[in-house]
Amino acid sequence: MLELSLHILDVVENALNAGASLIEIELEKDTARDILRLKISDNGSGIPKEMLSRVTDPFYTTRTTRRVGLGLSLLSQAAEQTGGSFKIDSVHGSGTKLVAEFGLSHIDRAPLGDMLGTLMSLIVGRPEVDIMYTQKIGSNEFVLDTREIKDELEGVSLSNPEVIKFLRKNLQEGLAELGSI
Ligand SMILES: Nc1ncnc2c1ncn2[C@@H]1O[C@H](COP(=O)(O)OP(=O)(O)O)[C@@H](O)[C@H]1O
Ligand SMILES: [Mg+2]
Repeated sequence: MLELSLHILDVVENALNAGASLIEIELEKDTARDILRLKISDNGSGIPKEMLSRVTDPFYTTRTTRRVGLGLSLLSQAAEQTGGSFKIDSVHGSGTKLVAEFGLSHIDRAPLGDMLGTLMSLIVGRPEVDIMYTQKIGSNEFVLDTREIKDELEGVSLSNPEVIKFLRKNLQEGLAELGSI
């Protein structure tokens, strides 16, 4: 069982390989409906239609370094085994969007894992790629958008130690609202 943050890392890696300049990650905790919903979209090269139906097949990959493509099929299995669902949509040339729904309290639902580390390494490690992280808990919304942050920084780098400290604190406070999931 992989932590959800590792699934997120894998989907993000796909988006980066597809040349995305913007990756949007949304996490919604719906306690009333007992659902944890993860949406990830990117503006990369997209997946050709004939390939799309095969991406949740564990034996499908376009990579040549490893025979088996596991990322999306593992995520889809992880969602479905909690009574949830997995959907992926893509327009070749303009981007990809996926939604994975998990049974929030299901015994087989993987824990979230290190979201702070995952988001920080992405934001700081790939400063040329914009990240929008949205978190919804009921009517409470938390958003961190690197486009807005870059505007405010007026040229100061995202890897400036003071900026890293600010980002980490901001994200940490936002993520704390999820509680231990
Ligand atoms: N966001 C994306 N944009 C473009 N192509 C994608 C994206 N996500 C997945 N793909 C395509 O689907 C294939 C399967 O992805 P995945 O299941 O993560 O396995 P792997 O990354 O190991 O190949 C990838 O090789 C890639 O061709
Ligand atoms: Mg992958």
